[in-house]
Amino acid sequence: MNDNLHQLRCIGCGTRIAGAEAQPDFRCVLCGELFEVEYPGWEQRQGSDRPNAGALKWLWRERRSSSETLDRSGVWRFRELLPILDSFGDAVTLFEGNTPLYHLPRAAKALGIDQLYAKHQGMNPSGSFKDTGMTSALSVAKERGFEWVACASTGNTSAAMAAYAARAGLKCLVLIPDGKIAWGKLSQAMDYGAVTCQLKTDFDGCLTLLTEIVKQAPIYLLNSVNPYRLEGQKTPAFEIAEAFDWNVPDHLIVPGGNLGNSSALGKGFRELVELGLVARMPKISVIQAEGANPLARSFIANDGTSIEPMDAHTRATAIRIGNPASWRKAAKVIHDSGGWCLDVTEAEISVAKAEIGREGLGCEPASAVTLAGLKKLRAKGVVGSSETVVLLLTGHTLKDADYTIDFHRGTLLKPEEAIGLEKQIEGLRRNAVAVDATIDAVLATLKGKVG
Ligand code: F0G
Repeated sequence: MNDNLHQLRCIGCGTRIAGAEAQPDFRCVLCGELFEVEYPGWEQRQGSDRPNAGALKWLWRERRSSSETLDRSGVWRFRELLPILDSFGDAVTLFEGNTPLYHLPRAAKALGIDQLYAKHQGMNPSGSFKDTGMTSALSVAKERGFEWVACASTGNTSAAMAAYAARAGLKCLVLIPDGKIAWGKLSQAMDYGAVTCQLKTDFDGCLTLLTEIVKQAPIYLLNSVNPYRLEGQKTPAFEIAEAFDWNVPDHLIVPGGNLGNSSALGKGFRELVELGLVARMPKISVIQAEGANPLARSFIANDGTSIEPMDAHTRATAIRIGNPASWRKAAKVIHDSGGWCLDVTEAEISVAKAEIGREGLGCEPASAVTLAGLKKLRAKGVVGSSETVVLLLTGHTLKDADYTIDFHRGTLLKPEEAIGLEKQIEGLRRNAVAVDATIDAVLATLKGKVG
């Protein structure tokens, strides 16, 4: 079976190449920009390769009750919209995707919005949204005969890559910034058998180095510069549209690090519009941490037309990135969809994370920028009370337990960082208390908390 119907288009100069012609660093040899996967068959309106909207909606829903391996994946369930493999039989899956969409009643009430939801991508097999992109790109690596795959990572990409490489029987190399990733994520790479190098540099330094390494050795690069990653990562857009019965929400809010994910989700919604599955795109807003905010700065300085790399610092280590590779794609998504790009402080992130915890969901710090960002957008008056808003929670709360414990112990923030939010923080903190092992002592503690 030949399912492969795609080509790659450079987002800079528009050059088109066959998938197999891509350079090891996935940069255009003519202009240095990144590529995007496109499907020429979709353009011929009556063409036999153009998917039929009504038939697809029915087929994808049917597959939810199928026990076939590919149908059980929330990525490959939508395989008609990502025909990137010569044979779908080569797909490496851990049954990723099909993640829950939760209502957030408390946050909705506090913000005066009726329809506020969280799409929890932390409920994927390795605990982050990276699984949806790893199943697609690592399957391409396997099909093309690579023995080694590699990524630079702030932790989640490496955890996902290591898991999928182990499933596929491929060897994998992980480059991480020394001391700047959460233990949960590092432990996953070890558990799944990756070769992990902790480098005395930041994420941007790791990626720069790896870009040179893959030019010298037959290693397949699995960072989100690889356009096949974005094909898998666009599928949550399909799940969201399906969950709203193909009426898209008004607004989707996404954290921004290397900016692959916002690019992918924008591509997903754009394709749904092009194929007639939905009528419009949601507004897509990207939120960054204040200390790692090159795109937010760029939107203030020049409306997102150029970017100034920076030395990045944030406790939300997943998005500690100063020179995001996919900034141009993400800026286009924000412009095309009518969304915003802004940043939030460390204290705002910590409060939002604790509030998401109180909804019974929890998430890792980088995911919480979405709720913190929504509060700012509400305060600016650009999100109305009748709008339907979806926050994309990217990682599971157990990824970074140290952060959570530090918050509840009161040791996370410096006092000057918390100014103005002290009351909220105190109200949310639930430190564990040392209590005598007696009934009276435990009940007395309860009284103190309830009364
Ligand atoms: N949220 C989490 C939990 C992440 O791990 C990342 C990125 C992002 C948001 C930002 O997504 O980079 O597509 O804009 N983590 C990467 C990694 C960089 O190596 O795990 P992005």
